[in-house]
Amino acid sequence: MLWIMRFSGFFSAAMLMVILSPSLQSFPPAEAIRSSHLEFNLRQSVRLSVSDSPTRFLFRRSPLYRNAEHCSPRDFKFSGRFGVCDPSLVHVAITLDVEYLRGSIAAVNSILQHSLCPESVFFHFLVSETNLEAVVRSAFPQLKFKVYYFNPAIVQNLISTSVRQALEQPLNYARNYLAELLEPCVRRVIYLDSDLVVVDDISKLWSTNLGSRTIGAPEYCHANFTKYFTSRFWLEKRFSGTFLGRKPCYFNTGVMVIDLVKWRRAGYTKRIERWMEIQKNDRIYELGSLPPFLLVFAGDVSPIEHRWNQHGLGGDNVKGSCRNLHAGPVSLLHWSGSGKPWMRLDSKKPCPLDSLWAPYDLYGHSH
Ligand SMILES: *[C@@H]1O[C@H](CO)[C@@H](O)[C@H](O)[C@H]1NC(C)=O
Repeated sequence: MLWIMRFSGFFSAAMLMVILSPSLQSFPPAEAIRSSHLEFNLRQSVRLSVSDSPTRFLFRRSPLYRNAEHCSPRDFKFSGRFGVCDPSLVHVAITLDVEYLRGSIAAVNSILQHSLCPESVFFHFLVSETNLEAVVRSAFPQLKFKVYYFNPAIVQNLISTSVRQALEQPLNYARNYLAELLEPCVRRVIYLDSDLVVVDDISKLWSTNLGSRTIGAPEYCHANFTKYFTSRFWLEKRFSGTFLGRKPCYFNTGVMVIDLVKWRRAGYTKRIERWMEIQKNDRIYELGSLPPFLLVFAGDVSPIEHRWNQHGLGGDNVKGSCRNLHAGPVSLLHWSGSGKPWMRLDSKKPCPLDSLWAPYDLYGHSH
């Protein structure tokens, strides 16, 4: 109980800082990151027993969570295939890898703790290495989830070098392939990075109206869109002409609501891959997995309230300096950028807002 009080006390302090300094509006490009390696087939789930669990990952069991009374009861018609086809479920996709595992586990924990219907959330974990399923199971014994193997070879020769090495990790690109990886009965998914916590009911984000759009995300139209692409891109009409008839705005790909039915129908995966091929030969941007999303979707995104991606808390891509919150309410805190809260907390040099991440951390022995 004590930590809750300390937490909320700090939170009020943080909100006060926002009110006092509402100037922190524009952030330089920042993307969440991840790492991995190994090989294999696209739609293949990895099933492992607990005995495979590497002992170096020690996570405490999550606090208990239960559906509130009004939540839709589980429909046993859909009990096969992990029950994943039950239409009352909220689907969330997150990557899992050794380096960001602690972040992913904290993200899942935060979602469960703030949901009115936590047992109605189904998690789709994207992995490129084995052994992580048992870790998830031990931290969340009753969790509804499925693990999907993402083959790094699919993107290996499509990845070009970027400003930060971590942005080049293949698993960063798994979000491009959700429409192919996930079960065909999954019609909508929320994609989340591993360096964030949700502090509101995820079902509110889930019920976003996308209208005719395929993806929804908070847009940042005040950000200078020019800088996400090279001068060569803007000079050559065969590239920049793609934005004709659109008013493109920056959005962060770490939090997206995706209509998978529309995505599959329009073949967006191929369109993203085509831009990645162009990048290999013509160098049209400097960042990793973000620019292809901007190329395909910017100006055609359903805008979601900014509270759902308070991004940039990791600091910039070079120094990892401390950042403040954007003005306004907060439903999701995102440590995009080079600094990660678990690393800074471990090094005893945390940023003030890192204490908002700490309550969801399950890493380490129970006390
Ligand atoms: C936007 O960024 C580009 C490239 O970095 C720069 O040349 C331009 O002056 C910027 N525009 C504004 C309005 O700041």
